[in-house]
Amino acid sequence: MFSRIIGTGAFVPEKTVTNDDLARIMDTNDEWIRSRTGIRERHLFEEDAKDKTQTAAIKASERALVMAEEKGLKRSDIELIIVATCTPDHAFPATACVLADRLGIGSAAAFDLSLACTGFLAAFSTASAYIGSGMYKNVLVVGVDVMSKLLDFGDRSTSILFGDGAGAVVLSGDERFRGSCESGVLGSIMRSDGSRAGVLSCDSIYKNEDRGGVLHMDGRAVFEFAVREVPKLIKELCEGVGSVPSYYILHQANYRIIEAVAKRLREPMDKFPYNIDRFANTTAATIPILLDELFRSGRLREGDEVVLSGFGAGLSLGAIYLRL
Ligand code: ACO
Repeated sequence: MFSRIIGTGAFVPEKTVTNDDLARIMDTNDEWIRSRTGIRERHLFEEDAKDKTQTAAIKASERALVMAEEKGLKRSDIELIIVATCTPDHAFPATACVLADRLGIGSAAAFDLSLACTGFLAAFSTASAYIGSGMYKNVLVVGVDVMSKLLDFGDRSTSILFGDGAGAVVLSGDERFRGSCESGVLGSIMRSDGSRAGVLSCDSIYKNEDRGGVLHMDGRAVFEFAVREVPKLIKELCEGVGSVPSYYILHQANYRIIEAVAKRLREPMDKFPYNIDRFANTTAATIPILLDELFRSGRLREGDEVVLSGFGAGLSLGAIYLRL
């Protein structure tokens, strides 16, 4: 059975923080941030907001479910919820279990997984494998991160890069396409290199360990890794599928990374939609937020072929070839 996306939704908190706002609290400026990253502004939760990750996940999921319901899905048809996040509100329970209850789908199987910026890719491919196996038919997949929980606004090299947000998709098995290649996930590759884990990491969140929640990043090493490995992976995927997509929907970490990937793939920039300028890097949420924008604006339509690709901490990376 092939999986198709029948609903998408996104949420970012109301508060917009511009580069000029950041320049008022740290030694940086709009020109540096825009020219090095493409970011103009990001949305962040108010510091004292409660249950931020759950709130964002619920709002994005509600929107995705409403879209899926318009296409005939009943909420009770959702059998599995997978939430990708590295910034849950609690070590446990899993965000997905709370989400199931809050969305009125209390009996669904539900779990979280964590792979930072590659998290949505991992969740999406897990969901499509479950659907492909026939075990579940309708799955809600959520990418959510509240990076402001981890940011140190005394560190200008990392704090300018991130935003808070959530994106969700409803994936549904379509039996009309059983055994054919007319729709769904046509290919998927995921890789990791834990020998380079120290390039991008966050110390423990446990209270008896002293450097809780501190983000470490060798920005240049991550940049080089993405620019070298992502085009290679995408090429391998497209060659395996034997086709070239209409769009490449990349994790939004840095506009210059997107440009460099396009250049290495010898593809025009208009095949690489982006929104990093408005939302910055929302970690597991970048790809589903962008997917939601593209579906709602009509830029993505049924039958289009797209490659989704995520990369980041692990180091890890993944790419999925989809026919919508
Ligand atoms: N404002 C002004 N100056 C700054 C800032 C800032 N916000 N940050 C750093 N600088 C300075 C540095 O101190 C340095 O100054 P120096 O030359 O006097 O030492 C200079 O700017 C250049 O710094 P670099 O770090 O070399 O700048 P670079 O061009 O590499 O850009 C950046 C840095 C934007 C972080 C880039 O490396 C990048 O985007 N890397 C990828 C990051 C990424 O994708 N991370 C994924 C995280 S997602 C996840 O999995 C959780």
